[in-house]
Amino acid sequence: MNTSTIPRDDRKHVREPVTPSPTGEVQGFEHVQRTPLALDATAALSSVESLQQLLADTITLRDLYKKHHWQAAGPKFYMLHLLFDKHAGQQSELVDLLAERVQTLGGVSVAMGADVAAMTLIPRAPAGREHSEAQLARLLHAHEVVLLEARAMARLSAAAGDIGTNDIIVSDVLRVGELQVWFLAQHIQ
Ligand SMILES: [Fe+2]
Repeated sequence: MNTSTIPRDDRKHVREPVTPSPTGEVQGFEHVQRTPLALDATAALSSVESLQQLLADTITLRDLYKKHHWQAAGPKFYMLHLLFDKHAGQQSELVDLLAERVQTLGGVSVAMGADVAAMTLIPRAPAGREHSEAQLARLLHAHEVVLLEARAMARLSAAAGDIGTNDIIVSDVLRVGELQVWFLAQHIQ
């Protein structure tokens, strides 16, 4: 898929930056720092692990919406083009909430596409364009994966006493996801 037009002589700068990085990682991806949140360390650790999965899947869902926003076509083009972008924006806000919750709990939020692709449970979409019915079905399935996770996580975080995380899962991830599913499902005959 690489279609770079960078001249051959300049390609060494892609591999080796002119300004080298002065330091490496200061916190490993798996490491969770203790934070003064008056929250049990085991609960924080377990919430970070679950939030990372939910974050990776929410980033994937957001990207799926953008893909379908760009690649929409057919008689419902204008409506779907706008709807997919609205939902992508709302998912983007959820991504920020989840990533910052991971950081608040002392973790390091998953961020880059390659890491997200390795973690997500949502099946990989083809690079090519799909029919609008297939786009809707793919989005509904991605939502179902996120909602399954969110419901399981809501129960676990409440039982562990991490009600801050529970609130984000229920009030934001679950509510927004359910509403978006309603909007999508109305297009299926
Ligand atoms: Fe756009």
